[in-house]
Amino acid sequence: MPDKKLIFSANKIKSRVKELAEQISKDYAGKELVMVGILNGAFIFMADLVRAIEMPLEIDFIRVASYGAGSVSSGSVTFTKDIELSIKGKNVLLIEDIVDTGKTLSFLKQHISDKKPASLKICALIDKKERREISVIVDYSGFEIKEGFLVGYGLDYAEQHRHYPDIFHLLSPEK
Ligand code: PRP
Repeated sequence: MPDKKLIFSANKIKSRVKELAEQISKDYAGKELVMVGILNGAFIFMADLVRAIEMPLEIDFIRVASYGAGSVSSGSVTFTKDIELSIKGKNVLLIEDIVDTGKTLSFLKQHISDKKPASLKICALIDKKERREISVIVDYSGFEIKEGFLVGYGLDYAEQHRHYPDIFHLLSPEK
């Protein structure tokens, strides 16, 4: 097992997800909402968040790849799967697991905006604000952290560790 330190327990994540869902339900009440999960990292957060929201909504996914197999950003974003629902005139909420340099979201914000939604906001479980290279505003942020490579609850290192219910700081990835 790799060396890792607990950062956010499953219980802590669960209660924060509930709070985010309550805020989203309140803000979008009576509006047409499309929640778009960014694969792969957001799949667990998205699944928990949508189940905590008590209002009609549509769900879709989008996939880009910004990192290779390691932990350092390659600096480029590759678009691999588009959304399939029509979002013109609808309120879109992008769901992300973690915002780091901001490159992924800045690319996706432009791409989604071109499809003319009524509004576009971002919900991210974790905001690594201090690492930002491109300015991106996270409208709904679960937790803020300064540093550390996180795994679990959808977050990976070389496609490993996504299945942990808790979020850990990976101390020595190679072990
Ligand atoms: C991770 C994460 C975000 C992105 C954030 O995705 O899920 O999408 O990096 O980094 P950025 O703000 O520097 O762009 P990754 O490309 O590792 O793919 P994954 O979601 O499949 O893990």
